[in-house]
Amino acid sequence: MKDKVITTVIKECSYSELEPKDQYLVDTAKNATKNSYAPYSRFHVGAAILLDNGEIVMGANQENAAYPSGTCAERSACFYASAKYPDVPMKKIAIAAWTALHTDPQSDYESGFQHHPISPCGACRQALLEYEARYGDIEVILYGKDSIYILPSVKSLLPLSFTEF
Ligand code: THU
Repeated sequence: MKDKVITTVIKECSYSELEPKDQYLVDTAKNATKNSYAPYSRFHVGAAILLDNGEIVMGANQENAAYPSGTCAERSACFYASAKYPDVPMKKIAIAAWTALHTDPQSDYESGFQHHPISPCGACRQALLEYEARYGDIEVILYGKDSIYILPSVKSLLPLSFTEF
């Protein structure tokens, strides 16, 4: 029996260290949290996907009283992107999350963002992976106020993934 080692290299940086285009993608993901419908969790997630045609598509989590009927920001973004542009590769995705820390959620907008990078759930990784398998690597930028993680691909977030049957 032998060990097999799976390694994921994550780049960590601050917002100011990002290239302006990536800052813009992160800003778009942060803005997308405002489009979240999250009356149950009050956890507002935004995603922004940069497409190969230069367009940025936003997504936000959409909840429902019948809980499983809702969907995450990442899946709303990639499904929207693919429904709008079925043949255009996705190049990058940025993700941010905002929570209501105060009774008036509008009073302190910046403070509501998560300190640490928010990472997509397993179902969203699986959904994104399939677009990546079709079109090539999708860089993943996970926003936190204190640090940002950059991963080279969705696959690096989901090793040993199920891709075909
Ligand atoms: N959520 C996302 O939108 N993306 C994630 O990566 C994790 C969780 C949403 C689902 C639900 O609406 C809320 O956050 C709390 O789980």
